[in-house]
Amino acid sequence: MFERSIKIAPSILAADFANFGAECRAIEAQGADWVHVDVMDGHFVPNLTFGPATCAAIRPHIKGVMDVHLMISPVDVYLEAYAKAGADVITAHVEAGPHIHRTLQAIRGLGKKAGVALNPGTPAEAVAELMDMVDLVCVMTVNPGFGGQSFIESQVPKVQRLRQMIGDRPVHIEIDGGITATTAPLVAKAGADVLVAGSAVFKGGSAENSAPYGTNIKAIRSAAEAALT
Ligand code: DX5
Ligand code: ZN
Repeated sequence: MFERSIKIAPSILAADFANFGAECRAIEAQGADWVHVDVMDGHFVPNLTFGPATCAAIRPHIKGVMDVHLMISPVDVYLEAYAKAGADVITAHVEAGPHIHRTLQAIRGLGKKAGVALNPGTPAEAVAELMDMVDLVCVMTVNPGFGGQSFIESQVPKVQRLRQMIGDRPVHIEIDGGITATTAPLVAKAGADVLVAGSAVFKGGSAENSAPYGTNIKAIRSAAEAALT
């Protein structure tokens, strides 16, 4: 059932890379709605993170949605591996290749929710033909590759445009990059419902001392929800 309430999706890019299982359990215990998994190939973005094997290893430690963000190119060749690894949502970049429509068909063909991501330089119109092919549109509010970057405020009107393009379709708008309790209200007001946050969630805590995760998640969620009243 589609639901547009605010969801917080911590990105494990900001987690302890030596402790992913415990970190996933900790953020879910502290209120995370989704777990955002940033896959980077060192080609589409200037950083390298983890592959299908890591996703498969953390899957048993995630009760909720495993939201896999593929910052890779080519992307089609890896879709089946991430689907088998247990991804619930698989998001590909519109910039990753010439056949995004086919990529989204393939993701849905694997029985997964399909997402399309847009880099800051890509206009909303780039996904105008995909509105019936996606379950999620991810708006990058940083240039992809790293956590801890500053929010690119010029992307806020793009969120409004996308919400208009989506209309009453059951499609999430996910915001990815630089989300804090300060920036969350801007994008919630513009029509976003899934907020990815790495550094703003993981700061000050650890899997052993996870209370700060809960405080950070609550701060982002309440700031976003306050903007909707
Ligand atoms: C960047 C990733 C983001 C990033 C978010 O390429 O897609 O998910 O990890 O990290 P913060 O919230 O620290 O900007
Ligand atoms: Zn991401």
